[in-house]
Amino acid sequence: MSEPSIPPGTAFPTTRPRRLRQHAWLRGMVAETVLTPADLVWPLFVHDAAAAVPVAAMPGVDRLTLDGVRRAAAEAAALSIPAVALFPVVDPRHKSDDAAHACDDDNLACRAVRAIRAETGGAVGVVCDVALDPYTSHGHDGLLADGQILNDETVEVLCRQSLSLAAAGCHVVAPSDMMDGRVGAIRRALDAAGRQDVCILSYAAKYASAFYGPFRDALGSSAALDAGAKRGIADKKTYQMDVANGDEALREVGLDVAEGADMVMVKPAGTALDVIWRVKRAFGLPTLAYQVSGEYAMIRAAAGHGWIDGARAAAESVLVIKRAGADAVLTYFAPELARAMQGSAAR
Ligand code: PBG
Repeated sequence: MSEPSIPPGTAFPTTRPRRLRQHAWLRGMVAETVLTPADLVWPLFVHDAAAAVPVAAMPGVDRLTLDGVRRAAAEAAALSIPAVALFPVVDPRHKSDDAAHACDDDNLACRAVRAIRAETGGAVGVVCDVALDPYTSHGHDGLLADGQILNDETVEVLCRQSLSLAAAGCHVVAPSDMMDGRVGAIRRALDAAGRQDVCILSYAAKYASAFYGPFRDALGSSAALDAGAKRGIADKKTYQMDVANGDEALREVGLDVAEGADMVMVKPAGTALDVIWRVKRAFGLPTLAYQVSGEYAMIRAAAGHGWIDGARAAAESVLVIKRAGADAVLTYFAPELARAMQGSAAR
């Protein structure tokens, strides 16, 4: 006589998470995070030239002409991308130690804002970086004296730069300079000029990151920064945050919120998912994250070698930024992701 047999599988769990992973429809139905075009902001480089010029380390990204920017904004509208973020590549003859051109109402950034507004009206949001690095001869985000970046003097220029951009029709000014007190000063300057309507997206937690390299090449500020570093003049580490710090990011965000920031940004995104999570939980404010040039370049480079599936890696890298708590992501992948989403969510 044999022993009564134990039904097979009794020792196995009754809860099987794999049940929900069997079918595409089921995975889609239970997905906790879904990326849509409304989650994307598309950063655009614009230069004053007759033709687009590729950015070497960012395959697929060009320095656009004014007309190219106008067309990109129209494409953003067609793809339901809510906003573009503008970065001017300034001609070296407009760079100076006092960054005066940053406050010229007819500079390239302002002309690009007007071109986009003329093309799309209010259909596409225009976000403009507020910082002096495109305009300084040394490539720093602030004014330099005796090898140091001056805080309060820089903030005055940032206020004037914000007013020029607001007058051109920019919806959101995004101070990315990391000077202390600039959000409050810019808010007061905008309000005094009757521009209560202009939002402030503060790059509140911006790290001194190695991942900005391709962006600095695109803007043409790398060489000047490297030359300055050799002469021992200020380092961006004297104003951007140390990547070692997380609590400090919360203090930075707290200050900017108290000063009147409408939205805050964490940057870079992929190396600061924990910070995005903490900021969103602590403040509950619209929290954006910037997948920066180096993050883009790494994925493109590996995909270019055939080492990873570039489209899948791009979609995954942005989806997890949203899972970490970001309400929107600035990413150079924005147009290709939005195109892929037409008809289906990118997952
Ligand atoms: C400068 C600025 C930088 C980026 C956005 N604004 C570079 C820097 O701080 O040196 C980086 C964006 C990117 O790498 O994609 N104010």
